[in-house]
Amino acid sequence: MPTLLLYGSYGFVGSLIANEAIDRGLDPILAGRDRETLREQVDDLEQPGRRFSLDDPDTVAEALEDVDCVLNCAGPFSNTADPLVEGCLESGTDYVDITGEIPVIESIEDRDAAAEGAGVTLLPSAALSTVPMDCLAAHLHERLPEATDLALGVDSFRVPSIGTVRTVIEGAEDGGTIRRDGHLENVPTAWRTREIDFGRGERPAITMPMGDVSTAHYTTGIPNVEMYAVMPQPARTALKLHRYLAPVLAVKPVQQVLKLLAGVREGPSERARERGSAYIWGEATADDGERVVSRLRTPDPYIVTTDAAVTVTERVLAGETDSGFQTPAGAFGTELVFELEGVEGFFDESTPEETSPVSPLLQ
Ligand SMILES: NC(=O)c1ccc[n+]([C@@H]2O[C@H](COP(=O)([O-])OP(=O)(O)OC[C@H]3O[C@@H](n4cnc5c(N)ncnc54)[C@H](OP(=O)(O)O)[C@@H]3O)[C@@H](O)[C@H]2O)c1
Repeated sequence: MPTLLLYGSYGFVGSLIANEAIDRGLDPILAGRDRETLREQVDDLEQPGRRFSLDDPDTVAEALEDVDCVLNCAGPFSNTADPLVEGCLESGTDYVDITGEIPVIESIEDRDAAAEGAGVTLLPSAALSTVPMDCLAAHLHERLPEATDLALGVDSFRVPSIGTVRTVIEGAEDGGTIRRDGHLENVPTAWRTREIDFGRGERPAITMPMGDVSTAHYTTGIPNVEMYAVMPQPARTALKLHRYLAPVLAVKPVQQVLKLLAGVREGPSERARERGSAYIWGEATADDGERVVSRLRTPDPYIVTTDAAVTVTERVLAGETDSGFQTPAGAFGTELVFELEGVEGFFDESTPEETSPVSPLLQ
């Protein structure tokens, strides 16, 4: 059986993924940098463990020597993806993670040629952001191949885990990001607000710098991409204020205090996860004004993330991917999202401007 190593296995999402991987018979090696916490998890789950930190590149490559695939759950990924990717390239190990951070995905894409040379798959963002959005983007591109603009959105506001809060704080200094003419462009935080119908009436959503700005472009080749998320009014105001607070938030001591404050919150409970859901929306438009809209509905973001990470990893371990940088839908096609339990769609909408009043999927 191929060997899987789960790095960051004792974090909030890492633990959910560890349990799911064990349930599916993947027999993962649990791994991370903290000896005590790792030992507790290893004893509890009765799995093998491997403690190593990411400070020394040689140690990382050595730790991965007998490993076929790493699934990295240790975020913020701006601190962990680079050393693990380099270790994987040296040891010939495939790499999967759950990042939603644009700079991280971009720096992994930069290692495409090196990964091809090493015969290694690098597949970031096997999570809520970006598996459903990436599959939706690919589906919209199939419906409108001449699309030049893509807008994607998610409506799933809920109490995030500590790690997600820390990652958002860490990335706060970068402001917002969209893709224009194929290139990333920095824009102010909460740059645009749009009323979006996610399938249950219009709701105000703001531009967010989520990883889909990277992956949807690499999957479809569409040059202009914006990503929106629904936020309640207080959060929208706070994010808009962030434009003026950005220089303060970038200061390390301020970030440390915010992380401490974030540390008082726990991740969503099992009950909350079971009741949660996410509504995903996407719109592709072409230069001649033609426009197509499609939607998806998924279970709770943390359930989707766990399912997506393990499903993608199973397929990488089975040798189904080419070497080099891969996106979820680029590697497995639009149908990947329907391998995740409880996902419904694609719900296709046709607008009066469209030539065909009924989408091909509904015919
Ligand atoms: N893309 C998506 O849709 C999506 C969905 C959910 C979560 N996420 C992301 O997944 C990440 C994890 O979330 P979480 O809730 O599980 O966070 P968490 O509970 O804080 O866990 C983070 C884990 O990463 C480890 N870690 C952090 N920095 C490290 C470093 N420099 N070296 C080694 N280990 C390090 C931590 O180990 P220590 O305890 O030893 O520090 C811990 O095991 C976050 O970045 C979050 O944004 C993404």
